[in-house]
Amino acid sequence: MLTTTVFDTRAYDRESLLRAAAGFPIEWRFLDFRLTRETAALARGARAVCVFVNDELDRPCLEAVAGLGVELVALRCTGFNNVDLAAAKELRLPVVRVPVYSPHAVAEHAVALLLALNRKIHRAFNRVRDLNFALQGLEGFDLHGKTAGIVGTGKIGRVAAQILRGFGMRVLAYDPYPNHDWASQHAVEYTDVSSVIGLSDVISLHTPLTPETKHLVRWETIELMKPGVILINVSRGALIETRALIEALKSGRLGGVALDVYEEEEGIFFEDLSGQVLQDDDLARLLTFPNVLITAHQAFLTREALDDIARTTVANLRALTEGKPFVEGSVLV
Ligand code: NAI
Repeated sequence: MLTTTVFDTRAYDRESLLRAAAGFPIEWRFLDFRLTRETAALARGARAVCVFVNDELDRPCLEAVAGLGVELVALRCTGFNNVDLAAAKELRLPVVRVPVYSPHAVAEHAVALLLALNRKIHRAFNRVRDLNFALQGLEGFDLHGKTAGIVGTGKIGRVAAQILRGFGMRVLAYDPYPNHDWASQHAVEYTDVSSVIGLSDVISLHTPLTPETKHLVRWETIELMKPGVILINVSRGALIETRALIEALKSGRLGGVALDVYEEEEGIFFEDLSGQVLQDDDLARLLTFPNVLITAHQAFLTREALDDIARTTVANLRALTEGKPFVEGSVLV
């Protein structure tokens, strides 16, 4: 029996993991709070810990987990910016992730946000429910014929680009490792990052969070953008410097901003805080803008993506017990 402590879980995580593990003896210990240095002791007795995007696997946390005899950290996500990989390596604690799961889930959510924001569906929904059938202030623009800029043409960025090409948009893209075959197949134009930022009516960010991409969107970048641009971020919150974004929104420079991720989302996103006072003033300010649409890190939340995530996670746990190699592409340390 492989004991696995699974942090930060909700019903949908538990159901998909149980489904994927059917017939394989795993003793799941599902916890609904995050793994941090303070909660690491709860991994006692487990051979593996399973975590998500906002667990904090810094050095003290990893030391604590390794000290308890945990043999594997399995991330239920693609991004791994929340793990101190150098510390894990020193501790000889293997870390695996889900290298690929439905990129359509995430790209389609980015486009859903774009369509809702541009056509002001979030505002129209509230109005109509209040029997306010007036259209004043709900004007959008045709995406057809406009220019979209995709920053990062990995698995998700490519799907987003293809969907936007389907709308008849011109698509510009930047990636330090361009995929020219794919670009010519879909008539996507690679260019430098400043041109993508400066020439696009819609900008969508699809890079991982790294020291290089942190605050990719800051005051100097925003100044390059066309007035009225729509900015979409479904990747990681810290790609955008929140304070600069708020200033740009206050000045009216930006047409709209849709976020599925937020720089300080840990401890807020995934929680029901509806009866509480929101303590994050920047998030509170963002929520006041009529042209800001925020979802709480739900881009991955489709049946297909959850099943992909659970299958890879269970396959890696099986590999641990059977002494076999982990799923290809999943090993970080
Ligand atoms: P990927 O690894 O397939 O693609 C990332 C691309 O970004 C690569 O082509 C890489 O060359 C490029 N890149 C790296 N540095 C760059 C830079 N400075 N400028 C432009 N491009 C750069 O990753 P994938 O699967 O497409 O995911 C992208 C990100 O989306 C993940 O790292 C994760 O943070 C985020 N994500 C968010 C989810 C959500 O639920 N909101 C779900 C899944 C992923």
